[in-house]
Amino acid sequence: MAKDLFDKIHKSKGPLGKWAEVAEGYFVFPKLEGPISNRMKFQGKEVITWSINDYLGLANHPEVRKVDAEAGVKYGSAYPMGARMMSGHTELHDQLQDELAEFVNKEAAYLLNFGYQGIVSSIDALVSKDDVIVYDVDAHACIIDGVRLHLGKRFTYKHNDLESIEKNLQRATKMAKVSGGGILLISEGVFGMRGEQGRLKEIVALKKKYNFRLFVDDAHGFGTLGKTGAGAGEEQGVQDDIDIYFATFAKSMASTGAFIAAEEEIINYLKYNMRSQMFAKSLQMQLVVGALKRLDMLRTMPELKDKLWENVRALQGGLKERGFDIGTTQSCVTPVYLKGSVPEAMALVKDLRENHGIFCSIVVYPVIPKGLILLRMIPTTTHTLEDVDLTLKAFSAIRERLENGTYKRLSAAVAAAFGE
Ligand SMILES: Cc1ncc(COP(=O)(O)O)c(C=O)c1O
Repeated sequence: MAKDLFDKIHKSKGPLGKWAEVAEGYFVFPKLEGPISNRMKFQGKEVITWSINDYLGLANHPEVRKVDAEAGVKYGSAYPMGARMMSGHTELHDQLQDELAEFVNKEAAYLLNFGYQGIVSSIDALVSKDDVIVYDVDAHACIIDGVRLHLGKRFTYKHNDLESIEKNLQRATKMAKVSGGGILLISEGVFGMRGEQGRLKEIVALKKKYNFRLFVDDAHGFGTLGKTGAGAGEEQGVQDDIDIYFATFAKSMASTGAFIAAEEEIINYLKYNMRSQMFAKSLQMQLVVGALKRLDMLRTMPELKDKLWENVRALQGGLKERGFDIGTTQSCVTPVYLKGSVPEAMALVKDLRENHGIFCSIVVYPVIPKGLILLRMIPTTTHTLEDVDLTLKAFSAIRERLENGTYKRLSAAVAAAFGE
Protein backbone atom coordinates (compact mmCIF):
# COMPACT_ATOMS: atom_id res chain seq x y z
CA MET A 1 0.00 0.00 0.00
CA ALA A 2 1.18 3.54 -0.68
CA LYS A 3 1.78 5.69 2.36
CA ASP A 4 -0.87 8.16 3.45
CA LEU A 5 -0.78 11.36 1.42
CA PHE A 6 -1.25 13.35 4.63
CA ASP A 7 1.85 11.81 6.29
CA LYS A 8 4.07 14.70 5.21
CA ILE A 9 1.55 17.23 6.51
CA HIS A 10 1.49 15.54 9.92
CA LYS A 11 5.30 15.85 10.01
CA SER A 12 5.76 19.40 8.75
CA LYS A 13 3.56 22.44 8.42
CA GLY A 14 6.01 24.07 6.02
CA PRO A 15 8.58 26.87 6.53
CA LEU A 16 6.04 29.48 7.64
CA GLY A 17 3.46 27.11 9.09
CA LYS A 18 5.89 25.99 11.77
CA TRP A 19 5.42 29.37 13.43
CA ALA A 20 1.64 29.07 13.52
CA GLU A 21 1.44 28.04 17.15
CA VAL A 22 3.17 31.19 18.41
CA ALA A 23 2.26 33.52 15.57
CA GLU A 24 -1.29 32.91 14.43
CA GLY A 25 -3.80 35.61 15.27
CA TYR A 26 -1.06 38.08 16.15
CA PHE A 27 1.81 38.07 13.66
CA VAL A 28 -0.04 36.19 10.94
CA PHE A 29 -3.76 36.23 10.27
CA PRO A 30 -4.25 39.24 12.60
CA LYS A 31 -7.74 40.73 12.67
CA LEU A 32 -7.70 44.46 11.98
CA GLU A 33 -11.09 45.94 12.79
CA GLY A 34 -13.04 49.12 12.09
CA PRO A 35 -13.25 51.21 8.91
CA ILE A 36 -10.17 50.92 6.68
CA SER A 37 -8.03 53.98 7.41
CA ASN A 38 -4.79 55.23 8.95
CA ARG A 39 -6.04 54.18 12.37
CA MET A 40 -7.79 50.88 13.01
CA LYS A 41 -8.35 48.57 15.94
CA PHE A 42 -6.19 45.57 16.73
CA GLN A 43 -7.27 43.43 19.68
CA GLY A 44 -9.40 46.29 20.96
CA LYS A 45 -6.65 48.94 20.83
CA GLU A 46 -6.22 51.74 18.29
CA VAL A 47 -3.17 51.32 16.07
CA ILE A 48 -1.64 53.36 13.26
CA THR A 49 -1.91 50.97 10.31
CA TRP A 50 1.02 50.81 7.92
CA SER A 51 0.17 47.49 6.37
CA ILE A 52 -2.73 48.17 4.04
CA ASN A 53 -2.26 48.80 0.31
CA ASP A 54 -4.99 51.42 0.22
CA TYR A 55 -2.50 53.86 -1.33
CA LEU A 56 -4.94 56.58 -2.36
CA GLY A 57 -7.29 56.20 0.60
CA LEU A 58 -10.19 55.11 -1.60
CA ALA A 59 -11.22 52.09 0.48
CA ASN A 60 -13.33 54.13 2.82
CA HIS A 61 -13.78 57.31 0.81
CA PRO A 62 -17.42 58.45 1.24
CA GLU A 63 -17.98 58.84 -2.53
CA VAL A 64 -16.62 55.35 -3.17
CA ARG A 65 -18.65 53.82 -0.35
CA LYS A 66 -21.79 55.47 -1.76
CA VAL A 67 -21.26 54.11 -5.27
CA ASP A 68 -20.40 50.63 -3.94
CA ALA A 69 -23.52 50.62 -1.77
CA GLU A 70 -25.81 51.84 -4.56
CA ALA A 71 -24.39 49.26 -6.97
CA GLY A 72 -24.99 46.58 -4.33
CA VAL A 73 -28.63 47.60 -4.04
CA LYS A 74 -29.10 47.83 -7.80
CA TYR A 75 -27.34 44.63 -8.88
CA GLY A 76 -26.94 42.43 -5.79
CA SER A 77 -23.79 40.37 -5.64
CA ALA A 78 -24.72 37.80 -8.30
CA TYR A 79 -25.08 39.86 -11.45
CA PRO A 80 -24.03 38.98 -14.11
CA MET A 81 -24.11 35.19 -13.99
CA GLY A 82 -21.76 33.02 -16.02
CA ALA A 83 -18.42 33.56 -17.72
CA ARG A 84 -18.03 36.60 -19.98
CA MET A 85 -18.03 34.41 -23.11
CA MET A 86 -21.27 32.69 -22.21
CA SER A 87 -23.67 34.94 -20.34
CA GLY A 88 -21.66 37.22 -18.02
CA HIS A 89 -20.90 40.11 -20.39
CA THR A 90 -22.29 43.64 -19.98
CA GLU A 91 -21.99 47.12 -21.41
CA LEU A 92 -20.33 48.33 -18.20
CA HIS A 93 -17.60 45.66 -18.42
CA ASP A 94 -16.80 47.01 -21.89
CA GLN A 95 -16.88 50.61 -20.67
CA LEU A 96 -14.50 49.89 -17.81
CA GLN A 97 -12.09 48.13 -20.16
CA ASP A 98 -12.13 51.05 -22.59
CA GLU A 99 -11.52 53.57 -19.81
CA LEU A 100 -8.71 51.51 -18.27
CA ALA A 101 -7.03 51.10 -21.67
CA GLU A 102 -7.19 54.83 -22.24
CA PHE A 103 -5.83 55.57 -18.77
CA VAL A 104 -2.73 53.37 -19.26
CA ASN A 105 -2.36 54.46 -22.88
CA LYS A 106 -2.96 51.09 -24.52
CA GLU A 107 -5.29 50.13 -27.38
CA ALA A 108 -7.37 47.71 -25.37
CA ALA A 109 -7.82 46.10 -21.96
CA TYR A 110 -9.49 43.02 -20.54
CA LEU A 111 -10.82 42.50 -17.03
CA LEU A 112 -9.52 39.78 -14.75
CA ASN A 113 -11.38 38.46 -11.71
CA PHE A 114 -8.26 38.29 -9.58
CA GLY A 115 -4.82 39.57 -10.42
CA TYR A 116 -3.13 36.39 -9.28
CA GLN A 117 -5.11 34.03 -11.49
CA GLY A 118 -5.11 36.55 -14.31
CA ILE A 119 -1.33 36.71 -14.42
CA VAL A 120 -0.96 32.93 -14.22
CA SER A 121 -3.41 32.54 -17.02
CA SER A 122 -2.15 35.33 -19.25
CA ILE A 123 1.41 33.98 -19.12
CA ASP A 124 0.00 30.55 -19.93
CA ALA A 125 -1.91 31.95 -22.91
CA LEU A 126 0.93 34.07 -24.27
CA VAL A 127 3.59 31.38 -24.57
CA SER A 128 3.74 28.07 -26.37
CA LYS A 129 6.28 25.33 -25.67
CA ASP A 130 8.73 26.76 -28.22
CA ASP A 131 8.84 30.16 -26.53
CA VAL A 132 11.33 31.19 -23.85
CA ILE A 133 10.51 33.17 -20.69
CA VAL A 134 13.07 35.44 -19.01
CA TYR A 135 12.03 36.82 -15.61
CA ASP A 136 13.28 38.46 -12.42
CA VAL A 137 14.23 36.05 -9.65
CA ASP A 138 12.29 38.19 -7.15
CA ALA A 139 9.09 38.09 -9.18
CA HIS A 140 5.77 37.84 -7.34
CA ALA A 141 4.42 34.34 -6.64
CA CYS A 142 1.76 34.67 -9.34
CA ILE A 143 4.42 35.23 -12.01
CA ILE A 144 6.35 32.23 -10.75
CA ASP A 145 3.20 30.12 -10.87
CA GLY A 146 2.44 31.33 -14.38
CA VAL A 147 5.95 30.41 -15.47
CA ARG A 148 5.52 26.98 -13.84
CA LEU A 149 2.78 26.18 -16.33
CA HIS A 150 5.13 26.88 -19.22
CA LEU A 151 6.23 23.75 -21.05
CA GLY A 152 9.25 25.37 -22.70
CA LYS A 153 12.47 26.94 -21.42
CA ARG A 154 12.69 29.69 -18.84
CA PHE A 155 15.57 31.68 -17.36
CA THR A 156 15.63 33.80 -14.21
CA TYR A 157 17.86 36.83 -14.00
CA LYS A 158 19.35 38.32 -10.83
CA HIS A 159 17.02 40.87 -9.32
CA ASN A 160 17.05 44.06 -11.41
CA ASP A 161 20.57 43.25 -12.60
CA LEU A 162 21.16 44.54 -16.12
CA GLU A 163 24.16 42.35 -16.82
CA SER A 164 22.20 39.28 -15.79
CA ILE A 165 19.19 40.43 -17.84
CA GLU A 166 21.33 40.76 -20.94
CA LYS A 167 23.12 37.46 -20.35
CA ASN A 168 19.80 35.67 -20.04
CA LEU A 169 18.40 37.40 -23.10
CA GLN A 170 21.43 36.08 -25.01
CA ARG A 171 20.78 32.55 -23.72
CA ALA A 172 17.08 32.89 -24.51
CA THR A 173 17.84 34.16 -28.01
CA LYS A 174 20.03 31.12 -28.71
CA MET A 175 17.38 28.80 -27.35
CA ALA A 176 14.57 30.48 -29.28
CA LYS A 177 16.55 30.21 -32.51
CA VAL A 178 16.70 26.43 -32.05
CA SER A 179 13.07 26.02 -30.98
CA GLY A 180 11.70 28.55 -33.45
CA GLY A 181 9.85 30.44 -30.70
CA GLY A 182 9.85 33.96 -29.28
CA ILE A 183 10.87 35.52 -25.95
CA LEU A 184 8.68 36.94 -23.15
CA LEU A 185 10.48 39.06 -20.54
CA ILE A 186 8.54 39.58 -17.31
CA SER A 187 9.30 42.27 -14.71
CA GLU A 188 7.34 44.00 -12.02
CA GLY A 189 6.78 47.74 -12.29
CA VAL A 190 7.44 47.99 -8.56
CA PHE A 191 8.73 45.09 -6.49
CA GLY A 192 6.28 44.89 -3.63
CA MET A 193 8.65 43.89 -0.84
CA ARG A 194 11.66 46.11 -1.45
CA GLY A 195 9.89 48.89 -3.30
CA GLU A 196 12.40 49.10 -6.15
CA GLN A 197 11.05 49.85 -9.59
CA GLY A 198 11.77 47.32 -12.30
CA ARG A 199 14.48 48.62 -14.67
CA LEU A 200 11.95 49.13 -17.39
CA LYS A 201 13.80 51.90 -19.18
CA GLU A 202 16.97 49.85 -19.51
CA ILE A 203 15.05 46.69 -20.40
CA VAL A 204 13.22 48.57 -23.14
CA ALA A 205 16.58 49.82 -24.47
CA LEU A 206 17.63 46.18 -24.88
CA LYS A 207 14.81 45.74 -27.38
CA LYS A 208 17.16 47.33 -29.94
CA LYS A 209 19.52 44.35 -29.54
CA TYR A 210 17.17 41.48 -28.74
CA ASN A 211 13.76 40.54 -30.01
CA PHE A 212 11.45 40.07 -27.04
CA ARG A 213 8.09 41.17 -25.70
CA LEU A 214 7.86 42.90 -22.32
CA PHE A 215 5.22 41.98 -19.71
CA VAL A 216 4.98 44.29 -16.68
CA ASP A 217 3.10 43.51 -13.46
CA ASP A 218 2.49 47.02 -12.13
CA ALA A 219 0.37 46.13 -9.10
CA HIS A 220 2.08 48.73 -6.89
CA GLY A 221 2.86 51.31 -9.60
CA PHE A 222 -0.67 51.78 -10.94
CA GLY A 223 -2.21 54.89 -9.37
CA THR A 224 0.94 55.80 -7.45
CA LEU A 225 3.62 56.46 -10.08
CA GLY A 226 3.80 58.57 -13.22
CA LYS A 227 2.40 62.01 -13.89
CA THR A 228 -1.14 60.76 -14.40
CA GLY A 229 -0.83 57.70 -12.17
CA ALA A 230 -0.50 55.31 -15.12
CA GLY A 231 2.36 53.58 -13.30
CA ALA A 232 6.02 52.70 -13.48
CA GLY A 233 6.13 52.75 -17.30
CA GLU A 234 4.84 56.32 -17.35
CA GLU A 235 7.24 57.27 -14.54
CA GLN A 236 10.19 55.96 -16.57
CA GLY A 237 8.91 57.31 -19.89
CA VAL A 238 8.52 53.88 -21.51
CA GLN A 239 4.82 53.10 -21.15
CA ASP A 240 4.45 52.71 -24.93
CA ASP A 241 7.19 50.08 -25.03
CA ILE A 242 5.49 47.81 -22.50
CA ASP A 243 3.82 45.17 -24.62
CA ILE A 244 1.57 43.70 -21.93
CA TYR A 245 0.63 45.87 -18.98
CA PHE A 246 -1.02 44.42 -15.88
CA ALA A 247 -2.44 46.03 -12.75
CA THR A 248 -4.69 44.82 -9.95
CA PHE A 249 -7.59 46.67 -8.31
CA ALA A 250 -6.36 45.35 -4.94
CA LYS A 251 -4.08 48.29 -4.17
CA SER A 252 -4.62 51.89 -5.39
CA MET A 253 -8.15 51.02 -6.50
CA ALA A 254 -8.96 49.49 -3.09
CA SER A 255 -11.17 46.78 -4.49
CA THR A 256 -11.03 43.32 -6.06
CA GLY A 257 -10.30 42.48 -9.69
CA ALA A 258 -7.56 43.38 -12.14
CA PHE A 259 -6.90 44.06 -15.82
CA ILE A 260 -4.45 43.48 -18.57
CA ALA A 261 -3.83 45.98 -21.38
CA ALA A 262 -2.05 45.74 -24.73
CA GLU A 263 -2.58 46.12 -28.48
CA GLU A 264 -6.12 45.28 -29.50
CA GLU A 265 -5.08 42.17 -31.41
CA ILE A 266 -3.28 40.77 -28.35
CA ILE A 267 -6.22 41.51 -26.03
CA ASN A 268 -8.60 39.88 -28.50
CA TYR A 269 -6.38 36.82 -28.45
CA LEU A 270 -6.21 36.75 -24.64
CA LYS A 271 -9.98 37.16 -24.43
CA TYR A 272 -10.40 33.86 -26.27
CA ASN A 273 -7.47 32.01 -24.70
CA MET A 274 -7.12 33.03 -21.04
CA ARG A 275 -8.47 30.01 -19.24
CA SER A 276 -8.96 31.79 -15.88
CA GLN A 277 -11.47 34.11 -17.54
CA MET A 278 -13.04 31.73 -20.07
CA PHE A 279 -13.94 29.18 -17.43
CA ALA A 280 -14.82 31.41 -14.46
CA LYS A 281 -17.71 33.68 -13.54
CA SER A 282 -17.50 37.25 -14.75
CA LEU A 283 -16.33 40.06 -12.44
CA GLN A 284 -19.47 40.99 -10.50
CA MET A 285 -21.19 44.25 -11.28
CA GLN A 286 -20.65 45.97 -7.96
CA LEU A 287 -16.90 45.64 -8.55
CA VAL A 288 -17.21 46.92 -12.14
CA VAL A 289 -19.28 49.94 -11.15
CA GLY A 290 -17.00 50.55 -8.17
CA ALA A 291 -13.91 50.38 -10.38
CA LEU A 292 -15.39 52.93 -12.81
CA LYS A 293 -15.86 55.32 -9.89
CA ARG A 294 -12.36 54.71 -8.51
CA LEU A 295 -10.78 55.19 -11.93
CA ASP A 296 -12.66 58.45 -12.33
CA MET A 297 -11.22 59.62 -9.01
CA LEU A 298 -7.69 58.59 -10.04
CA ARG A 299 -8.12 60.70 -13.17
CA THR A 300 -9.76 63.75 -11.67
CA MET A 301 -8.34 64.01 -8.14
CA PRO A 302 -4.55 64.34 -8.44
CA GLU A 303 -4.55 65.69 -4.88
CA LEU A 304 -4.98 62.09 -3.66
CA LYS A 305 -1.63 61.11 -5.16
CA ASP A 306 0.00 64.36 -4.04
CA LYS A 307 -0.96 63.75 -0.41
CA LEU A 308 0.21 60.13 -0.68
CA TRP A 309 3.63 61.31 -1.81
CA GLU A 310 3.80 63.97 0.88
CA ASN A 311 3.41 61.14 3.40
CA VAL A 312 5.88 58.90 1.56
CA ARG A 313 8.51 61.63 1.57
CA ALA A 314 7.93 62.43 5.25
CA LEU A 315 8.16 58.78 6.30
CA GLN A 316 11.07 57.73 4.08
CA GLY A 317 12.96 60.99 4.68
CA GLY A 318 12.44 60.75 8.45
CA LEU A 319 13.63 57.15 8.56
CA LYS A 320 16.74 57.98 6.54
CA GLU A 321 17.51 60.99 8.72
CA ARG A 322 17.44 58.73 11.76
CA GLY A 323 19.87 56.37 10.07
CA PHE A 324 17.46 53.53 9.28
CA ASP A 325 18.25 51.27 6.36
CA ILE A 326 15.33 51.55 3.95
CA GLY A 327 17.19 49.84 1.13
CA THR A 328 16.78 51.23 -2.37
CA THR A 329 13.06 51.84 -2.58
CA GLN A 330 11.86 53.98 -5.49
CA SER A 331 8.18 53.85 -4.67
CA CYS A 332 5.71 54.22 -1.81
CA VAL A 333 6.63 50.78 -0.47
CA THR A 334 8.81 51.50 2.54
CA PRO A 335 10.97 48.67 3.84
CA VAL A 336 12.96 49.01 7.04
CA TYR A 337 15.76 46.46 7.36
CA LEU A 338 16.95 45.46 10.80
CA LYS A 339 19.27 42.71 11.93
CA GLY A 340 17.86 39.98 14.16
CA SER A 341 16.40 36.50 14.45
CA VAL A 342 12.76 35.54 13.90
CA PRO A 343 11.99 35.40 17.66
CA GLU A 344 13.61 38.82 18.14
CA ALA A 345 11.46 40.13 15.29
CA MET A 346 8.37 38.84 17.06
CA ALA A 347 9.29 40.55 20.33
CA LEU A 348 10.01 43.77 18.44
CA VAL A 349 6.69 43.77 16.60
CA LYS A 350 4.83 43.02 19.82
CA ASP A 351 6.52 46.03 21.44
CA LEU A 352 5.59 48.21 18.44
CA ARG A 353 1.96 47.16 18.64
CA GLU A 354 1.43 47.04 22.40
CA ASN A 355 3.52 49.95 23.60
CA HIS A 356 3.62 52.27 20.60
CA GLY A 357 0.32 51.52 18.82
CA ILE A 358 2.04 50.92 15.48
CA PHE A 359 0.87 48.12 13.20
CA CYS A 360 3.13 47.17 10.32
CA SER A 361 3.84 43.93 8.50
CA ILE A 362 6.81 41.85 9.41
CA VAL A 363 8.70 39.79 6.88
CA VAL A 364 11.28 37.22 7.96
CA TYR A 365 13.19 34.21 6.65
CA PRO A 366 12.46 32.37 4.32
CA VAL A 367 10.93 35.32 2.44
CA ILE A 368 14.13 37.33 3.07
CA PRO A 369 17.63 36.05 4.06
CA LYS A 370 18.19 34.59 7.54
CA GLY A 371 19.22 37.13 10.20
CA LEU A 372 17.31 40.01 8.58
CA ILE A 373 14.03 41.48 9.74
CA LEU A 374 12.02 43.49 7.26
CA LEU A 375 9.32 45.80 8.57
CA ARG A 376 7.28 46.73 5.54
CA MET A 377 5.32 49.96 5.64
CA ILE A 378 2.75 51.28 3.18
CA PRO A 379 2.04 55.00 3.52
CA THR A 380 -1.36 56.06 2.22
CA THR A 381 -3.25 59.26 1.53
CA THR A 382 -5.17 58.83 4.79
CA HIS A 383 -2.06 59.06 6.99
CA THR A 384 -1.25 62.32 8.73
CA LEU A 385 2.12 63.89 9.45
CA GLU A 386 1.37 63.24 13.12
CA ASP A 387 1.12 59.50 12.31
CA VAL A 388 4.53 59.74 10.65
CA ASP A 389 6.03 61.58 13.59
CA LEU A 390 4.75 59.10 16.19
CA THR A 391 5.98 56.23 14.05
CA LEU A 392 9.48 57.68 13.67
CA LYS A 393 9.76 58.11 17.44
CA ALA A 394 8.61 54.53 17.98
CA PHE A 395 11.13 53.22 15.47
CA SER A 396 13.98 54.99 17.24
CA ALA A 397 12.86 53.38 20.51
CA ILE A 398 12.63 49.86 19.10
CA ARG A 399 16.01 50.13 17.38
CA GLU A 400 17.58 50.99 20.71
CA ARG A 401 16.00 47.94 22.34
CA LEU A 402 17.02 45.71 19.46
CA GLU A 403 20.61 46.90 19.77
CA ASN A 404 20.79 46.62 23.57
CA GLY A 405 19.56 43.02 23.47
CA THR A 406 16.14 43.57 25.08
CA TYR A 407 14.34 41.58 22.39
CA LYS A 408 16.90 38.81 22.51
CA ARG A 409 16.19 38.34 26.20
CA LEU A 410 12.41 38.61 25.73
CA SER A 411 12.48 36.11 22.91
CA ALA A 412 14.80 33.56 24.49
CA ALA A 413 11.92 31.26 25.45
CA VAL A 414 10.41 31.37 21.96
CA ALA A 415 13.83 30.83 20.39
CA ALA A 416 14.51 27.78 22.59
CA ALA A 417 11.17 26.25 21.63
CA PHE A 418 12.06 26.49 17.95
CA GLY A 419 15.74 25.60 18.15
CA GLU A 420 16.84 28.96 16.74
C1 LIG B 1 2.96 42.28 -7.63
C2 LIG B 1 1.59 41.65 -7.51
N1 LIG B 1 1.07 41.03 -8.56
C3 LIG B 1 -0.14 40.44 -8.48
C4 LIG B 1 -0.88 40.44 -7.33
C5 LIG B 1 -2.19 39.71 -7.28
O1 LIG B 1 -3.28 40.55 -7.41
P1 LIG B 1 -4.70 40.18 -6.78
O2 LIG B 1 -4.67 40.51 -5.34
O3 LIG B 1 -5.66 40.99 -7.59
O4 LIG B 1 -4.94 38.70 -7.00
C6 LIG B 1 -0.37 41.10 -6.20
C7 LIG B 1 -1.14 41.17 -4.94
O5 LIG B 1 -2.18 41.71 -4.81
C8 LIG B 1 0.90 41.72 -6.30
O6 LIG B 1 1.44 42.36 -5.25
